[in-house]
Amino acid sequence: MNQKKVIDIVKEQNRWRRKECLNLIASESLMSPLAESLYSSDFEGRYNEHIGHECHYEGTELSYEIEEICNQLFRNHFETPYTDVRPISGAIANLIVYNALTRPGDILVSLGIPNGAHISHTRWGPAGIRGLKNVDMFFDPETMNINVERTVDIIRASAPKLVMFGASMFLFPEPIKEIREQVDPDIKFIYDAAHVLGLVYNRLFQEPFKEGVDLITSSTHKTFQGPQGGIIIGSPGLSKKDWTKIDLSVFPGTLSNTHIHRFPSLAVTALEMNEFGEEYASQVVRNAKAFGKALYDRELKALCPNLGFTESHQVIVDVKEYGGGRKVASRMAQCNVICNKMALPNDTSKDATHNPSGIRLGVQELTRWGMKEKEMDDVAEFYKRVIIDGESVEKVKADVMAYKAQYPDIHYCFSLE
Ligand SMILES: Cc1ncc(COP(=O)(O)O)c(C=O)c1O
Repeated sequence: MNQKKVIDIVKEQNRWRRKECLNLIASESLMSPLAESLYSSDFEGRYNEHIGHECHYEGTELSYEIEEICNQLFRNHFETPYTDVRPISGAIANLIVYNALTRPGDILVSLGIPNGAHISHTRWGPAGIRGLKNVDMFFDPETMNINVERTVDIIRASAPKLVMFGASMFLFPEPIKEIREQVDPDIKFIYDAAHVLGLVYNRLFQEPFKEGVDLITSSTHKTFQGPQGGIIIGSPGLSKKDWTKIDLSVFPGTLSNTHIHRFPSLAVTALEMNEFGEEYASQVVRNAKAFGKALYDRELKALCPNLGFTESHQVIVDVKEYGGGRKVASRMAQCNVICNKMALPNDTSKDATHNPSGIRLGVQELTRWGMKEKEMDDVAEFYKRVIIDGESVEKVKADVMAYKAQYPDIHYCFSLE
């Protein structure tokens, strides 16, 4: 083993996943060339532990400035005094909020895994680390959304400390306002925007603060196509006391280093979103809807045809009759079309873990490569050729590689110069 092996792996990854694949993993993204060019720098090896402006180390002036620029961009955009870009991921952002606002034994109401909740909303992840007890919302598989009345009853009966909105399988805006109006105002509402931040930032999908959410937690690298990282945003109406708890839960509560090297890329991504975001986000949603229809027209069971399939970047397809999500996702990957298996609400818990019925398809990265509604039809055809027609993997893979080669450039961003 020598260093050449490492270099070769990176070259191979760059060629394969960027140039030869169609990526439909709904939680992934591509930074712009400029954001990417700023990702590796001296900031990489530095620390900047701080409480407020008081930095613990010397040599942190520029680290503080670049972090503050990121916060300022998000503060201005969400018109709130409260943002923190230090959380190093979305799951860690959730842990920070749990540590700040709950005590072990408190109740957390969230969606439940088969209905689309992220693991960090459950006892198997950060909620469990904090010792929270889970109570699931009532979810309607027909509309792929929360049932308001039943969920209000559940919240009233369980008296949770927090209610966690947002999801990993996330097709439609959630009825937050309707629930907020009917439950104790002291119960904090959190909105995990990890998947939809790029839409929410551009005032699409839903406006969580206007609907009664107290805090947004998020990743910065899914539909918001920045560097991998996390963020917490407090509503303009949040008390200073609550925000101070969040602040102290970030540091010293949870983090020491904060991966400062990502902040220049995050700032550039936010500036690009300010410039190109509306066009990008609206194209993402148009593409997702077109993709749902294109799959459905080919007799693939994209969920919720009567609701226009989706309002987000995701399309969910039930592939149980073709052997389930694991088999289908794996066969598509052999053809260089990358997506993941997904548990659906009616899966048994055994199936949900081992062979769920669905696949989850996100169009945000295809959109970034400049693809529009016509291309969604082309990509749906690749799915049909593999899943329904049973065409040979080799033939489809060759066609996918030739197809992707026609889309070499990343869109909705500044030029590198
Ligand atoms: C809803 C939701 N929250 C949080 C996360 C975790 O984000 P991260 O990978 O940034 O920790 C994910 C990951 O996909 C997610 O889907």
